[in-house]
Amino acid sequence: METTLILVKPDGVQRGLIGSVINRFEAKGLQLVGLKMLNAPRELLEKHYAVHSERPFFGSLLEFMSSGPVVALALKGEGAISVARKLIGATNGAEAEAGTIRGDYGMSKSFNMVHGSDSAENAEMELGLWFEDGTLDYELNGLRWVYDPSE
Ligand code: RTP
Ligand code: MG
Repeated sequence: METTLILVKPDGVQRGLIGSVINRFEAKGLQLVGLKMLNAPRELLEKHYAVHSERPFFGSLLEFMSSGPVVALALKGEGAISVARKLIGATNGAEAEAGTIRGDYGMSKSFNMVHGSDSAENAEMELGLWFEDGTLDYELNGLRWVYDPSE
């Protein structure tokens, strides 16, 4: 089992698409084990996007991410990190496949609705940043109909 960190970015919040985004992951069978809405502090965003600190878009990315509230989700499941990245789609909404979140809801490369962890190492680091008190551990009855135990 893996847990991944998903963010609904400020554009998704402002466009009234929080519920639609959460629904994609819930309907897929990923278990919600953390959920919070916040104005992300600058230091948190700097750590979260540290890998991009030398990129030309770093300043505008941090401006965008601190322009309004975001929603942080922790989602658990088998292969949750890559499963969530597939649901999210390519970075640029105009190029993302139809059926993905970015492909269905966005047209922009920077205002692209959602963030998803891209590796186990980054997921662990990002979950520590956004859910510093940890995530929830509980049984979800519907999961026995999501995974076939014989697979
Ligand atoms: P994310 O980290 O947010 O899940 O997105 P990603 O992996 O698909 O894309 P990444 O290359 O990690 O870029 C991080 C975020 O920076 C913004 N971006 N702007 N203006 C630009 O050229 C540009 N390129 C990237 C996007 O918001 C992207 O999601
Ligand atoms: Mg990324």
